[in-house]
Amino acid sequence: MSTQPAYGAKTKTQGVLNVGFVGTGNISWTHLRILEKRKDIKIVSLCDIVPDHAKEKQAVFGGEIFFDHVDMLKKGPKLDAVWVCTPSTAREEILVNCTKAGLPVFCEKPAERKVAVAKRIADKLDKIPNAHVQIGYVFRSMALTERLRELMADDKIHTFMSAYACGASTQNLLPAWFYDNDLSGGALVDQATHNFDWLRYLFGEVVEVSGFATNPFRKKTMSKKGNYTIDETIAMSLKFANGITGTHTHSWLADTWRNEVVLFGEKRKYHVNLGTCTIKVESAREETLFTQRSGTMYVYENEKFIDAVRSGDWSKNPSTYRDAAKSLALTQACIDSLNKGIQKVKF
Ligand SMILES: NC(=O)c1ccc[n+]([C@@H]2O[C@H](COP(=O)([O-])OP(=O)(O)OC[C@H]3O[C@@H](n4cnc5c(N)ncnc54)[C@H](O)[C@@H]3O)[C@@H](O)[C@H]2O)c1
Repeated sequence: MSTQPAYGAKTKTQGVLNVGFVGTGNISWTHLRILEKRKDIKIVSLCDIVPDHAKEKQAVFGGEIFFDHVDMLKKGPKLDAVWVCTPSTAREEILVNCTKAGLPVFCEKPAERKVAVAKRIADKLDKIPNAHVQIGYVFRSMALTERLRELMADDKIHTFMSAYACGASTQNLLPAWFYDNDLSGGALVDQATHNFDWLRYLFGEVVEVSGFATNPFRKKTMSKKGNYTIDETIAMSLKFANGITGTHTHSWLADTWRNEVVLFGEKRKYHVNLGTCTIKVESAREETLFTQRSGTMYVYENEKFIDAVRSGDWSKNPSTYRDAAKSLALTQACIDSLNKGIQKVKF
């Protein structure tokens, strides 16, 4: 896909942008609340296959509701952009139809559940003129990430420790489909993928991975009421093409949501708290703390997407569909390594 700005007919540099949502479950609240606060955005369409989900959001944010995205595109109000917040297995048709209709799409991560399908979608999008999709790998867009890059510019990072924890299993925090590994990919595809993607963004491609997983809280079970087939605690090792090595540990048995990465450089140590959006830089002589302007990380990715919709300049798209598919391939290699040992990352 071209990296040149594509100034398509759909750009709208002034006035209010009319936006639609496909998938109005949990994460849609976050994006809808951010957009609702902006005077330059009007939420005009909400679509979900579960009518109550769409009705619930309509009661708060207004707009027309639809139960099929094709109806929304054909019969609904004219749109300038669409937010896709469906599960990863329900994206292909929606992405293709929205982009064919000339609409830029902000789509939640991960790109897909299956790498082969993600590749197919990336190929299809490449063939659609002016198809623009930004995937919600939220850490890439944060001001904190730019700041970290500046802080590390004169240093050489050789290794890292990444750790992500929440009480998804012990506190039953998520909709049922997240606990079925085939549907969600569990902690690695739903959450760790954010860290893998962010590390790729900072350091380039990962070549090899290996890992272990255990279920100390609840055994894996298959039942008609819903499968519980996810891994609860995971420890991964990653080797990058440039020689950086590091670990990622993940728990769905923790007290609260925590996500922290420690990067060890030749000159300094960088403790990045992706939850509180702070960076603590430590050297032999000093310790400095940086805090991001807005702690709400989702604001930044929405700002970047809306700026691109307005300008038609997609050259700064933080996360293209194809690039997000590469992060999925890395994540899948991590899953495979839990049962098969060391895996090479292929895309
Ligand atoms: N970036 C983040 O930090 C973050 C946080 C939470 C979730 N997510 C991602 O967002 C996606 C959705 O997660 P969620 O927690 O909101 O899940 P959810 O189950 O609460 O919501 C998904 C919604 O999509 C609807 N849906 C399914 N198929 C549809 C279709 N074909 N057309 C229209 N609607 C359809 C469902 O009915 C449901 O309302 C997942 O991929 C998840 O990984 C990202």
